[in-house]
Amino acid sequence: MNTERREALHHFMRHLAAAVSTASLYPITHSQVGNLCRKALGCLTEAIGTDTEIKIIRIDDELVADGVPLERSMYVGRLGGMLKGSGVGHIRIRRQVVDHELLSLIESLAKKGKEGNELCSSENIRLGQVDVRNVRPEEGISKADWASGQAGIGVSADEMALFMEMYDNVRKRKRLDVVGLSEIVTVFIDAFVNDADPLLALAPLRAMDEYTYTHSTNVCILNLAQAKAMGIIGAQLHDIGIAAMLHDVGKLFIPEEILNKTEKLTEDEWELIRRHPVTGAHYLLDIPGVPRLAVVTAFEHHMRFDMRGYPRVKASSWRPNIASQMTAISDIYDSLRTKRVYCKAEDFKVVEHILREEAGSQLNPQLVSNFLRIMDRQHAREEMNGIGETKPS
Ligand SMILES: [Fe+2]
Ligand SMILES: [Fe+2]
Repeated sequence: MNTERREALHHFMRHLAAAVSTASLYPITHSQVGNLCRKALGCLTEAIGTDTEIKIIRIDDELVADGVPLERSMYVGRLGGMLKGSGVGHIRIRRQVVDHELLSLIESLAKKGKEGNELCSSENIRLGQVDVRNVRPEEGISKADWASGQAGIGVSADEMALFMEMYDNVRKRKRLDVVGLSEIVTVFIDAFVNDADPLLALAPLRAMDEYTYTHSTNVCILNLAQAKAMGIIGAQLHDIGIAAMLHDVGKLFIPEEILNKTEKLTEDEWELIRRHPVTGAHYLLDIPGVPRLAVVTAFEHHMRFDMRGYPRVKASSWRPNIASQMTAISDIYDSLRTKRVYCKAEDFKVVEHILREEAGSQLNPQLVSNFLRIMDRQHAREEMNGIGETKPS
């Protein structure tokens, strides 16, 4: 299989995994599921090329296409996990495959485990139940090659590059890719649902501190953890994740020299920074597909619990939305825990102390308690595994 076809296959996996995740949140008739299914089919046709079919084998969570192991990525891993969860060992897809066949596969994978749901082969999509977990090395597949790094959500360099590109487009005043963003949030939610440990993803991302997108990803994961602990699920959880990813989108319109400045900021520069909630909310208002909650969160995330903070609003009865209040907590936590050009990363205990101090004035006290419960548990787990504190340099 040549490079173009491998790339097409990778995109097929990405769209298929996103379609299954979307179909587990929304009805199969949702336009987003249809769009992703069509995209997946287009890429699949390209990947099959002039061959009569493509054969994909699953080994644990890993996939092998036409005898060649697929490069590890977030989507390949997710799809492997989905197939594993449904007991599918291999898939054979013929070139003549049509969209309703793919859609029915998406629906079955999305409903796995539900009563009466069985994965069925169709004329051009043949599913096999044989698990080839014990394939021998001499057959060309070494399990050890891809067994590593299964904990957490494994955001690959590829996906992070995609995310960075998405933010770069915003910086260049191009339109935000809401679908791409939605897919990333769905990955995080899946990781929580599957009882993986997405909070572990915070650690490796800390290294790339100079980018707003890193901070946004961290805030997203932290918000999802808070929301999930409060029993929020489904589309509302998804919107909270999107809102977190976009909370600082207004900062993309501030020159990087100001954001990364190590010397004292001038009053004008401060003013520019203080405007990022308004700039961000304005920007998001014009973009179709962005949840209203994201506009509200971008606008409110620097409002304090005691209603000091910014932007100032005239209505005295104004109270920030719960997603904005959760974002305020995740925001402070991540800013303090992340080493930046202008300050060191704080110790967990120091951050915990600061959050407790701010409960009731800057931050919602109930939400702080909820947050610290989660982080205490996480911190204890990290320490136990010896991956916790990295001493600031
Ligand atoms: Fe902000
Ligand atoms: Fe922020």
